[in-house]
Amino acid sequence: MSAMKTRVFTAGKNGIDEQEMAVAAEIIRAGGLVAFPTETVYGLGGDATNPDASRKIYEAKGRPSDNPLIVHIENFGQLEEIVAEVPKEARVLAEKFWPGPLTMILNKNEKIPYETTGGLDTVAIRMPNHPVAQAFLKESGCMIAAPSANTSGRPSPTRASHVWEDLQGRIDVILDGGEVGIGIESTIVDLTEEVPVILRPGFITLEMLSEVLGTVKMDPGIVDENSKKPPKAPGMRYRHYAPKAELTLVEGQENQVVSAINGYAEKLISSGKKVGIIATEETKDRYPEGMVVSIGSRNDEAQVARHLYQVLRQFDEWDVDAIYSESFPTAGVGQAIMNRLLKAAGHKKITV
Ligand code: TXA
Ligand code: MG
Repeated sequence: MSAMKTRVFTAGKNGIDEQEMAVAAEIIRAGGLVAFPTETVYGLGGDATNPDASRKIYEAKGRPSDNPLIVHIENFGQLEEIVAEVPKEARVLAEKFWPGPLTMILNKNEKIPYETTGGLDTVAIRMPNHPVAQAFLKESGCMIAAPSANTSGRPSPTRASHVWEDLQGRIDVILDGGEVGIGIESTIVDLTEEVPVILRPGFITLEMLSEVLGTVKMDPGIVDENSKKPPKAPGMRYRHYAPKAELTLVEGQENQVVSAINGYAEKLISSGKKVGIIATEETKDRYPEGMVVSIGSRNDEAQVARHLYQVLRQFDEWDVDAIYSESFPTAGVGQAIMNRLLKAAGHKKITV
C-alpha cells in the first residue's frame, strides 16, 4: 500500500475540535479510514455500508478477509435498519447494556455488504459508550465498521500511540481520545441460535447476561482448547493478541507460582536471555531478577484488564526473549482476562 500521511486529531476538554471532527466525518463518508477511541479499545473505522471501505480496513490491518467486522451504531434505529429481524433479546440487552461493551450477532439484511461480514449472513453490532466515538458516529451519519485498530496479530490498542505504532501511513486519521477505560474488547453474544451464546468473553460477564436473558451458554470452542468444534467467531480461531516473545502462564498457589517463575527466569537469564515477568501489585517485589511489570492488583480485576495489552506491548518494546505471567481466577471479568492471556500464550500454561 502506498504510504499516506496519517493525521492525528487530539481531543481537548470538550472532545475533538469541531472542524477536525467535520474533516474526519467527511473522510468516513468518502470511504476513508479513521481510527477512534471506544470504551474498550481503539477501533479502525470505515463506512460499514461501503464494500471498498471494508476492503481497505482488511488491507490496512493485514487481516484475513474472512474475519468479520463489528458495525458500530449510535442509536437503536440503525440496528433495525441492518438486520433481518429484531429478536426480543436484542431489545432487552440494548435497554440494559447499550451504549456499552457488548456486541450482538444478528441475521443481517442486504444493507450490510458481505465485505463487512466476511461473507457471513450475520452481522455483529455494537453501540459504544465513549463520547468521542458517539460524536463521530453522529457527525458522520454513518454506521462504522471497526475492528480493533492494531496490525493483525498484535495486542489491541488502548492508546492512540499504539494505533500510531501499528497503522501510521496506512490510514487517514487517528482521533486521540486518551487512554481507554476498559482495555479489553467487547463481550460478543450470538442471538441467532436457540440459546444465546457468548462467542468472546468481556467486561459484560455471563452472569450479567444470564440475569436478564435466562440461560446463556459459553461457546465451547473458546473454553476448551481441545473442543471438536472451533470457536464460532472467526477471530477467536487465530493466535492473537500475541506479544513477540513466547509467553507462558504459570498457575497454582501464589508462593509456588512466584518461586517457579523465579526459577525459570533465573535459568534463562543466566544463559544470557532477557526475561519479562507479568506480576501483580501483591507479588511484584518478590521477583529479584527479570523485567518485572505489575499488571495491577488482584483485588481489582478491572485494573488488570485495563493494563493487559499495554503490558504485552511494553515487553515487545523491551524486546524480551520470554515472558512468564501469573494466572488469574476465571470468575467474572477474570474469564475475559484469562481468555486473552491464554490466546496470547498460544495456550502454554504450566500448573505448579
Ligand atoms: O470492543 C470491541 O469489540 C472492539 C471495538 C473497536 O469496538 N472491536 C473489536 O473488533 O474487537 P475485532 O474485529 O478486533 O473483533 C471482532 C470479533 C472477531 O473475533 C470476529 O471474528 C467476531 O468479532 N465477529 C464479527 N462478526 C461476527 C459474526 N457475524 N459472527 C461471528 N463472529 C463475528
Ligand atoms: Mg481485534
